[in-house]
Amino acid sequence: MERLVYCGFLFLISSCARGQDDEVLMLHNERTTLDDCHMRFHKLRPDVPVRPASGHPARLKEFAHIGAIGWTQPNGNISWKCGGTLIWFNFVLTAAHCAIDPDNRAPDVVRFGDLNILTAEGDKYAQQLKIAAIFRHPLHRFTAYYHDIALLKLERHVSFSEVVFPACLWMDEEVRFDILEAAGWGRTGYAQEQTPILLKVALKPIENEECSKVYSNGTDRMLRLGLQQHQMCAVDEKMDTCEGDSGGPLQIKLLHNTRVTPFVVGITSFGSACGTSAPGVYTKVAPYRDWIVETMQKNGAMVSNDTFNATTCAIYFVYFREYEDAIITYRTPEFVGVDSSKRHMFLAEGLPSYIVQLAWDRETNDCFGVIIDENTVLTIAQCVTKNRKYVSHVIYSSNNTMKISKIHIHPKYKQGSSYNNIAILRLQHLLNMKNIEPACIWHGELPQKEVYVHGSGRTDINTMLPFGSYISSSDPSISSLTPRVRLQNASSCIVPKRYQSLLSSGVTNEHICNGQNLFLVPESCELRTGAAVHDVIKRAGADYPMVYGLNYIGRDCGFGEHSIAIGTASHIAWMKTVLLSNHDKSHGIVHFVDRDLQEGDACDRYDRRAAQCVPVSKCPREWKQFLLHGTIELCSTSSSVCCPLNDIADTENSVIHPQFAGCPSLVEGLKPTSSLGSLVFIACQSPNGLNFRCLGTIITERIILTSASCVEDDIPSIVKLVTNTTQKMYPVNAILVHNAFNSTDNTNDIAMIRLEDSLTWSSDLYPACLWTNTTHVPLVLSMVSPVKSNNITKTEVLAMYNSDCQRNHDYELKGTQLCARDPFRNLTCTTMSDQLHYGSKNGVTYIVGLSTILNNCESSPHTVFTRVSSFVDWIGINI
Ligand SMILES: *[C@@H]1O[C@H](CO)[C@@H](O)[C@H](O)[C@H]1NC(C)=O
Ligand SMILES: *[C@@H]1O[C@H](CO)[C@@H](O)[C@H](O)[C@H]1NC(C)=O
Ligand SMILES: *[C@@H]1O[C@H](CO)[C@@H](O)[C@H](O)[C@H]1NC(C)=O
Ligand SMILES: *[C@@H]1O[C@H](CO)[C@@H](O)[C@H](O)[C@H]1NC(C)=O
Ligand SMILES: *[C@@H]1O[C@H](CO)[C@@H](O)[C@H](O)[C@H]1NC(C)=O
Ligand SMILES: *[C@@H]1O[C@H](CO)[C@@H](O)[C@H](O)[C@H]1NC(C)=O
Ligand SMILES: *[C@@H]1O[C@H](CO)[C@@H](O)[C@H](O)[C@H]1NC(C)=O
Ligand SMILES: *[C@@H]1O[C@H](CO)[C@@H](O)[C@H](O)[C@H]1NC(C)=O
Ligand SMILES: *[C@@H]1O[C@H](CO)[C@@H](O)[C@H](O)[C@H]1NC(C)=O
Ligand SMILES: *[C@@H]1O[C@H](CO)[C@@H](O)[C@H](O)[C@H]1NC(C)=O
Repeated sequence: MERLVYCGFLFLISSCARGQDDEVLMLHNERTTLDDCHMRFHKLRPDVPVRPASGHPARLKEFAHIGAIGWTQPNGNISWKCGGTLIWFNFVLTAAHCAIDPDNRAPDVVRFGDLNILTAEGDKYAQQLKIAAIFRHPLHRFTAYYHDIALLKLERHVSFSEVVFPACLWMDEEVRFDILEAAGWGRTGYAQEQTPILLKVALKPIENEECSKVYSNGTDRMLRLGLQQHQMCAVDEKMDTCEGDSGGPLQIKLLHNTRVTPFVVGITSFGSACGTSAPGVYTKVAPYRDWIVETMQKNGAMVSNDTFNATTCAIYFVYFREYEDAIITYRTPEFVGVDSSKRHMFLAEGLPSYIVQLAWDRETNDCFGVIIDENTVLTIAQCVTKNRKYVSHVIYSSNNTMKISKIHIHPKYKQGSSYNNIAILRLQHLLNMKNIEPACIWHGELPQKEVYVHGSGRTDINTMLPFGSYISSSDPSISSLTPRVRLQNASSCIVPKRYQSLLSSGVTNEHICNGQNLFLVPESCELRTGAAVHDVIKRAGADYPMVYGLNYIGRDCGFGEHSIAIGTASHIAWMKTVLLSNHDKSHGIVHFVDRDLQEGDACDRYDRRAAQCVPVSKCPREWKQFLLHGTIELCSTSSSVCCPLNDIADTENSVIHPQFAGCPSLVEGLKPTSSLGSLVFIACQSPNGLNFRCLGTIITERIILTSASCVEDDIPSIVKLVTNTTQKMYPVNAILVHNAFNSTDNTNDIAMIRLEDSLTWSSDLYPACLWTNTTHVPLVLSMVSPVKSNNITKTEVLAMYNSDCQRNHDYELKGTQLCARDPFRNLTCTTMSDQLHYGSKNGVTYIVGLSTILNNCESSPHTVFTRVSSFVDWIGINI
C-alpha cells in the first residue's frame, strides 16, 4: 500500500527520518495496557516512500456509449427522437418503440460523440453511422409497452475513441443499486422542446408495485395493464429534470481497474409528464440476455454468452474508460491530473505480514486472523470452529505454519451470533518478528474517516492500468486487495437486508459499520473474514498498522452495501484478562494484594497495619525490605505498593540519596563534550601487563559502577578513562560486590569500585547519573560495549517488558532485571560488562542498566541487564 508520507529526496530526509515529537518514550516496567504496540514493536526508522504523480489526456465526453437516433427528413434535416446505447462495435441497444416514428417511418442514422447535436460544437469528435438493420423483440407490440427492446445494427464498426465507446450490460436480475443514472437529449419539462445538450439525471429505483399504483389511475389504457417483472421503475426525487430519452440507458457506473464502466440496467421505455414526481418505466436488460446474444450472433457479431458477463465486459473494454473521480486531482479540457494514492482499491502482493490464514490441520477455509504479537492472533469467534473441529494452525508469511496451543473464545459468544464474536488464539511457539509487523489494537473512539479492509479478488479486474493501455490477456488469478472504505456511524450505517436477521439486536458499539457508496463490478472483491479493518498510524515517529476491527459480514468488500466488522476497542477489557493475566509470573518475588486497587485506595496488609496504595517511590522502607528480602506487597501493578500509612514519604525523591538527586544539574553545568566522559575500562595488573576486564561507569568522584560478575573472581587494580587517549591509570582502592549476587541466575549482579583518589570533573570527565525512576525506563537506550581492550561501540537498543522477555529466557526474570533487544538484529549479543545508558537532551548521561552475563548469544533475541533503579538504595547506603 502506498503511504501518505512524502519526503524530498535529499534535503527533507532528515526532517522525516525522526518523529517530530520530542517526547521521550518511557516503557513501564510491566505490561498493564494493550495500547503499547508502538513500544513493544518500536521502529527506530520509519519508511520514507516516494510517490509519483502523473497526468494523461482527459476524457472529453462522459457518455461515450450514448448515441442519438435520427430520422432523416425529406429536406435533409435529421430529427433526433430517440437515444440508444452502443454495446458492441456495430450494435446499438434501444427501445422497440423507437423502431418507427409517428409517421411509421424507421430511423436511419445514429450519431455518437456529440454533446450538442444541433450545433457544430465538438463535431470533430462525432461519428454518424447509417442503420443497416433494426431488430425489434419478437414479442413487442406497438399497442403495449411490454418487451420494449430493440437492437440496431450499424452499417459498419464505429472507431473506438475516448468519446465513442461501448457500455456493458447489467445481466443480473437483482438490481441493488440505490441510485441510477439516465442521460439523453431529453425534454426538460412538459411539452418543452427537446434540448440539444446531453443531460444526465440521478434516479432512484422504486418497487414495481408502488409504481403501478401511479399508472393504474391513468387514462392510457396501455398502462393500466400493470407492470411486468421485465420492467422496472425509477423516479427523479428532485423533480427538476425529466427522464432520459426514449431508448436511452438507465445505468450504473461500476468501479474496476481504478476506472468506472457504465452498465446498462434498463432502457428508457415511457414515463408520465415531466415535472411531476411520477416515475419513469424502463425495460430491464437482464431478462433479454439470450435474445440479445442470439440476435447479435445471427447477424454477424462475434459474441458469446460470456461477452456480457460483467467481469469479462469490464476488462474487454477497459482501455479509454474514465478514471474514478477519487484519483482525479484536476481537469482541464485536454488533461486530467491523477493521484493514484487516492484510489479506492489497492492490489497487494500477498497478505500483509500480520494477517494469517486459519487452518484445520493443513486444510484451510476462508478465515483469517490478525497477529498482534509473537504468539497471539485475533480473529472472530465464528472462525474458530469448522465442522465441529477447532482451528489447529495458522499459516503466516505465505506458507509457514504454526500450531495453535490455546483458543480463548469470548465467554459471552453464542454459536452463530453477531455479538461478542471475537476470539484470541495463542500459538505454540513464538513467531520470528523480524519478518512480521504485528498490528496494533485501536483503543479509542473510531475516527470519522476512511480506512482499509482486507479482501481478495481477480487480479485483472483490479490492476491499475496506464491510460489507453490494453490488457494483453485476462488474469483470473486471485490477489490480495486492500480497498479503502469509510467508517460509518450509527446514523449513516445501513445494514443490508440480507444481514438484518443476523443482527437481531441491531448494530451496537462493538460493531464497525463500513463501506462506500460506490459499487464494484461483481466478483472483484470479497472480504477476508476475520482479517482487519485497518489503517496505518503514525506513532512515536514511525508508521504502525492499526486494527480497528475484524471483518465479519459484507458483500463486495463493503462497496455499494455496508459491511459489518467486530470492533476491537469494545473488547479490550476481555482481551486484557486473557493477554495480561499472567504478567506477574515474571515477578515471582512479588505478591499482589488486590489487582483492582488503584493508587490512593486503602489496602489490607498481611501484618494488618493501616495501609494505602502509593507509588513505590513514596514507600522507601517497603522498597528497602524488597531489596533485602525480595518480598513486597503490591497493588494493581508493581509500581504501586501497599504501604503502611506511617511509612508513606512526603516526597517521591526521599528514596534517592542527595548526591544522586543533584547529579543532573551538576553534569548539565559541566557542559559535556561527548557522551563517553563517564565510561572507564577496568583492568587487572598481571606480570604480562594489563588484563582488560570490563567496562564501568563513573557515578561519583570515587565510585564506579559495574557488574558483580566482572569483578568477582579477579580483583581489578586500575581503571582508565575511555576518552583519555593518553591512558592515565587510576588505582582501585576497594571493591563491593552485592552480597545477594547469584551467579546462577545472575540476580543482583552489581558491584561498586572505589578509587584511591577523587576524580576532578570537567567537560570530558563527569559522572553518569543514576536512573532512579522505579516504574519506567526510557524505551530507546544506548548499549555501550567494549571492543578489544581499548575501544567501545554504541548500539541503540529497545527496552522490553520482562513478560515479553521471559518467553525466551531460561531463568525467571526478577523485577530487578531489565531486558533490551537490538531491533536490527535477530540476536542481541553482549559482553559481560555492557553499560546501558540513556543520554538526555540536556547532555546528561544516565546509567540505566549493567549487563549481567555473557549471554548465550547464539540463541537469545534479547539481553538481560541489572536494573539500576532497583539498586539506588543499595548504592546510596554503601557509598
Ligand atoms: C432544416 O431545414 C430548413 C430548410 O429546409 C432550415 O431552415 C432549418 O434551419 C433546418 N434546421 C432545423 C433545425 O429545422
Ligand atoms: C389514484 O386515484 C385515486 C382516486 O382518484 C387517488 O386518491 C390516488 O391518489 C391516485 N393515486 C395516485 C398514485 O395518483
Ligand atoms: C448465459 O449465461 C447465464 C449466466 O451465466 C446463464 O444463466 C444463461 O443460461 C446462459 N445462456 C446461454 C444461452 O448459455
Ligand atoms: C463471469 O465470468 C467470471 C470469470 O470468467 C466468472 O467467474 C463468473 O462466474 C461469471 N459470472 C456469471 C454471472 O456467469
Ligand atoms: C455520521 O456520518 C455522517 C457522514 O459520514 C455525518 O454527516 C454525520 O454528521 C455523522 N453523524 C454523527 C452523529 O456523527
Ligand atoms: C589524560 O591523561 C593525561 C596523562 O596521562 C592527563 O594529563 C590528563 O589530565 C588526562 N585527561 C583527563 C580528562 O583525565
Ligand atoms: C541462585 O539462583 C538459582 C536459580 O534461580 C536458585 O536455584 C538458587 O537457589 C539461587 N541461589 C541462592 C543462594 O539464592
Ligand atoms: C517515572 O516515569 C514516568 C514516565 O515518564 C513518570 O510518569 C513518573 O512520574 C516517573 N516517576 C518518578 C518517581 O519520577
Ligand atoms: C574504535 O572503533 C572505531 C570504529 O569502531 C574506529 O574507527 C576507531 O579507529 C577505533 N579506535 C581505536 C583506538 O581502535
Ligand atoms: C533473521 O532471521 C531470519 C529468519 O530466521 C533470516 O531470514 C534473517 O536473515 C535474519 N536476519 C539477520 C539480520 O540475521
